[in-house]
Amino acid sequence: MTAAIRSRSTTADSLLAWYDRHARRLPWRIGPERRKQGERPDPYRVWLSEIMLQQTTVAAVGPYFGRFVTRWPQVEDLAAADTDSVMQEWAGLGYYSRARNLKRCAEIVAADHGGRFPQTAAGLAELPGIGPYTAAAIAAIAFDEPAPVVDGNVERVVSRLRRIETAMPKAKALVREYVAEITPKKRPGCFAQAMMDLGATICTPKRPTCALCPISEGCEAHAEGDPERFPVKAPKKEKPTRTGKAYVAVRSDGAVLLRRRPDKGLLGGMAEVPNEGWASAKGEVEAEGPPLRAEWVRLPAPVTHTFTHFHLVLDVYRARVGSKIAAPAEAWWSPPAKLGREALPTVMRKVVAAATETG
Ligand code: ADE
Repeated sequence: MTAAIRSRSTTADSLLAWYDRHARRLPWRIGPERRKQGERPDPYRVWLSEIMLQQTTVAAVGPYFGRFVTRWPQVEDLAAADTDSVMQEWAGLGYYSRARNLKRCAEIVAADHGGRFPQTAAGLAELPGIGPYTAAAIAAIAFDEPAPVVDGNVERVVSRLRRIETAMPKAKALVREYVAEITPKKRPGCFAQAMMDLGATICTPKRPTCALCPISEGCEAHAEGDPERFPVKAPKKEKPTRTGKAYVAVRSDGAVLLRRRPDKGLLGGMAEVPNEGWASAKGEVEAEGPPLRAEWVRLPAPVTHTFTHFHLVLDVYRARVGSKIAAPAEAWWSPPAKLGREALPTVMRKVVAAATETG
């Protein structure tokens, strides 16, 4: 390519040409061959993937996405599913209010929109669980609306392209403006995903491989030789540490005593072993104590888990009980063969593992 021609090609052109060769093959995308034949991605799969990818990596989402679309191939199937089975399939992905909004959104699309997702970012943003980012992403990817799509990867790419000195999150508005400027009218969904892929594979937080970057020529940070300095971040607040207790009652047949959390609040509607003292920010201790009279033994090491806003240190108590002991009201015994399918969030899986792995 001559210099004259190259200078006329825009960031979007270079990026799209790169995407056509190097796009990650992901289960919610259609590859270049199918796209050339005029096929469009399925809005249901695009929506589902975007909800799952909120605050979760592509690698972690893959298997969950596969199980969801196998079990519920269309939005009507998900709308008709029972909420508990959706929570069970979601267990381990975190941020459980996303799963409840997902279910409500499917119900609304099925009941009020004839099973078709609204085709604009504005229409999509009215549905539960769809904020401005997700609305823009779905509108661009599924319906070719040139909506500016800005996730963490895109923020990094743009803050380097323009050497934005304003710290995140203040710089978000600037980034959005710039993305709106360079988003093409043609193939805006491919452009958005190309930016994400570039951020994930080349314009990485550490040691970006600028030599392979299709838009390094227009990149101010590359020109200055300091891409790793961007995005500039405001100093992080230290996360507080909360402490609590968890009680794992194990029956002689291996069944573990579980209960269900209230629908509202942290880990709402998920399963858990009885526990206390940590779930509220105010730190008031709901000292219920153990769920059964038994010989409770504290495990030598606590279980730790980090949530978005705090670290958790849980002292775990275990009791071995006879096979005839009844479960207290609202709790149930989950036999080993069923435990894997309970809607247990990751922190609770860690607790059960710690209490059942040791002697
Ligand atoms: N992260 C969020 N949405 C994505 C997508 N469609 N492709 C890759 N990474 C993403």
